[in-house]
Amino acid sequence: MNTVVVTNVVKSYGRHRALDGLSFTAGPGVTGLLGPNGAGKTTLIRMLATVLAADSGTLRLLGRDPSAERLQIRRRLGYLPQEPGFHRAFTVFEFVDYVAILKEIVDRRARHDEVRRVIAEVGLAEVSGKRIRALSGGMRRRVGIAQALLGEPELVLLDEPTAGLDPEQRLRFRELISRIGENRTVVLSTHQTEDVAALCGRVVVFDGGRCMFEGTPEELRRVAEGQVWLSAERSGVLSWRTGEGLFRNIGQAPDAARLAEPTIEDGYLLLLGDAAVGVRS
Ligand SMILES: Nc1ncnc2c1ncn2[C@@H]1O[C@H](COP(=O)(O)OP(=O)(O)O)[C@@H](O)[C@H]1O
Ligand SMILES: [Mg+2]
Repeated sequence: MNTVVVTNVVKSYGRHRALDGLSFTAGPGVTGLLGPNGAGKTTLIRMLATVLAADSGTLRLLGRDPSAERLQIRRRLGYLPQEPGFHRAFTVFEFVDYVAILKEIVDRRARHDEVRRVIAEVGLAEVSGKRIRALSGGMRRRVGIAQALLGEPELVLLDEPTAGLDPEQRLRFRELISRIGENRTVVLSTHQTEDVAALCGRVVVFDGGRCMFEGTPEELRRVAEGQVWLSAERSGVLSWRTGEGLFRNIGQAPDAARLAEPTIEDGYLLLLGDAAVGVRS
């Protein structure tokens, strides 16, 4: 069953097409939207969050039409925006409680129980009385996730949830997100291939408002099978020096090259083609 079905969606800002006839589906588990800056990831996620409408094409979210049943959909989804506007003078509890009020959890005692539950779920119970402005960036992200979990939504949308986290925070995040994805549909965006490898059962590669690939992370890795070479000399546009001093080349084999095992990043860079030169540098 697909929780999200997007068909031929176009969205323009002025003359610029951010989504260019995009089709996309997602069901239970974690789907990662992987693409460079400007690919259209945030535009799509805002559409799935019913914040933004499509110019043309159709969306079905949780079996409903967002242009007719927006409120019913909103009640069943959780959303972490790319740049959440926190009220920094609020404590963690106050902020999550405030969102719970906006989400119409009216009964005070039930609401407070739910607020405590989501705060505990992201591992912030101990700082629940602290002001948001006193938290680290990683903790603040977790506050953002906590509010997205209020009311046990069936669809959870996380826009760049790992941006700006240090390696240890990323690790904690992976645990949290894989747990969330066990019984829900999670769609998250990232421009980091490591996130996709660690978090997502399924990956959709995006560029220029179009879907370029859809499959498992392992299938994305295999896109570059037989096309990654190590050599002493640089060749072509997609090559860079590695830690071992050799050049890693993607695409045509240079002279005196040795075939290498591809990574997910290789598959991604190969799909992006010329656009990848900007990503890599
Ligand atoms: N509010 C807006 N007004 C004008 N252009 C926008 C706006 N939001 C996004 N864009 C443009 O649409 C394209 C896709 O943006 P976005 O969806 O934010 O991509 P991503 O999240 O993948 O970086 C980019 O070229 C961006 O500059
Ligand atoms: Mg974005």
